Amino acid sequence: MPALPAAREPGRYRIALVCLGNICRSPTAHVVLESRLADAGLADRVEVASSGTGGWHVGNPMDPRAAATLTASGYDPSRHRARQYDATWPEAYDLVLVMDEANLADVGGRSDRVGMFRDLDPVDPGGAVPDPYYGGDDGFEEVLAMVERTSDAIVAALPSALRGTD
Ligand code: 4NP
Repeated sequence: MPALPAAREPGRYRIALVCLGNICRSPTAHVVLESRLADAGLADRVEVASSGTGGWHVGNPMDPRAAATLTASGYDPSRHRARQYDATWPEAYDLVLVMDEANLADVGGRSDRVGMFRDLDPVDPGGAVPDPYYGGDDGFEEVLAMVERTSDAIVAALPSALRGTD
């Protein structure tokens, strides 16, 4: 996957964020990335969606610990409802970013438009966003910090990807 693959349709960009349950990591990234896009004036040109490879939580709001961590940092987690990933997403989106290696295997591996979210981490690239579901509150804080700096890097790279050039 290039830094950000070029828009399929120049001037519009669609990003899908994928984790296991779609109640902790990818919804956190969804809320933060949308907030950063709004701050950058890109909200009307860049669409964000999220889903989980598992279907257990479909229709549910975010995990209360993930929601509380976002609220404490000034974000609004209230609109999230969990969705399940399906195999049509890599064709529907310009970019699919998964949170860990298990998610990557579940979506069929890397491709031109599928990679790991933290490939784009400007501080410590290449790893996973660790699953905080079975851990303590500090896991949610760690996820938020990774997501905030990586979302900033994605927003910085989007103007060139939006033009349809890598
Ligand atoms: P997420 O975390 O993939 O970051 O949303 C999880 C949420 C739920 C489960 C696992 C991970 N679960 O097994 O229900």
